[in-house]
Formats: sequence, structure tokens, C-alpha cells
Amino acid sequence: MSAKVAVIYYSSTGNVHQLAKAVAEGAEKAGAEVRLRRVPELAPDAAIDANPAWREHVEATKDVEVATLDDLEWADAYALGSPTRFGNIAAQLKQYLDTTGGLWQQGVMADKPATGFTSAHNANGGNESTLLALYNTLHHWGSIIVSPGYTNPVVYGAGGNPYGTSHPGGAGAPADETLEAARYQGERLARIAARLSDES
Ligand SMILES: Cc1cc2nc3c(=O)[nH]c(=O)nc-3n(C[C@H](O)[C@H](O)[C@H](O)COP(=O)(O)O)c2cc1C
Repeated sequence: MSAKVAVIYYSSTGNVHQLAKAVAEGAEKAGAEVRLRRVPELAPDAAIDANPAWREHVEATKDVEVATLDDLEWADAYALGSPTRFGNIAAQLKQYLDTTGGLWQQGVMADKPATGFTSAHNANGGNESTLLALYNTLHHWGSIIVSPGYTNPVVYGAGGNPYGTSHPGGAGAPADETLEAARYQGERLARIAARLSDES
């Protein structure tokens, strides 16, 4: 059986958006049906306009559908992405996660595989801590965390982060090696989700 994968992310200036698209491509390559969704922007226009790259990204991704709670009900597996904000996930993604109390109570996200990806400006600027912070919620959901580990050499090509694909945004747009690792992460998530569905 093919899996249904929801790739849900927040991105201000495009790095995490690039990773999200690559994760989605990888899941599709593994035969999954994929929903690529951005969470709502919460920042005021004045903050967005103060950073031309942020405004440009908001305009460029207007057509990406906005995540709803239905996406979590629909999917068999989740890939969640956020930029690093002081070593933590962005408030925009956190706000979305904080609307899932009702679904959590019903066990909607329980037993489903989930994974995370991120981008900090600096290679050591908090990528791992952001993913671990994201995974706190997934533990509470009762999801099955499917981090890439070192299960494929492409992980090393992207800097060797076993917690999830990460991209130091200060180095420019994600390199092909990083996108390859993100595709692998999506493919692996979809493959494991399909396997779990077959067993249920
Ligand atoms: C409020 C704020 C906090 C940030 N905190 C960190 C940080 O702790 N470490 C870091 O390396 N970069 C930090 N950054 C930079 C972003 O994580 C980085 O630019 C990232 O690549 C943005 O991803 P995006 O292009 O998908 O929005 C911060 C940016 C903002 C606006």
C-alpha cells in the first residue's frame, strides 16, 4: 500500500521551503500521495517588509496551500520543517502544533511515523536542538520518530545530521547534496509508513 504523507513547514526566507519540496519529492518517488503545506504566517507586515527576502518569499509561496488540521487526519506520516529560532522551532509552526490538542486527545497522530528538517544560519547555530525541540511534540503525539540516522551515505553529504536534514542558510541556498538528503528523508518516511500500514 502507498502512504499518504503530509509535509508541513514554515519558512521565512525560503531555505526550509526548498527542503520541504525535496522531502515531498522523495516521498512521491517512493509512491506516496503527498500534501505539501505551509503553516500560516503570523508576523505583522511591518516585520516582513523589513526584510526584502522575507517579503519576496511570502509572495512567491502564496499558492502553496495552507496547512489545516485535516492534513494531520488525512496523512499516514508527517514531515515537519522549521527554521531555527534561537535553537528552537519558529512560533508559526509551534502555533500550528498547539492547535492539535483535540486531535491528540483522539490519538489521531499516534502510531504514525514522523520526521523533521530545519535550517539555521550557522552550521552549529542550533539545527540539532531545533529538531529535538520539534520531536518533543512528536513524542507527546505518540508518533514514531523516523530520523534519518546514518542509514544512507547521502546524510554525510548534507553535513551528517542524523536528527534530520539541516541546512546552514548562511552558506546560500541548499546545495544539491542537501536536497538529495532531504529527498532521501522523504523517501524513507514514505517507505516506512507504507510498511507500517501493511502491518496494521
Ligand atoms: C528570530 C530569529 C532567530 C534566529 N535564531 C537563529 C539561531 O539560533 N541560530 C542560527 O544559526 N540562525 C538563527 N536564525 C536564522 C535562521 O534560522 C536562518 O536564517 C534560516 O536559514 C531561515 O530559514 P528560512 O529561509 O526557511 O526562513 C534566526 C533568525 C531569526 C529571525
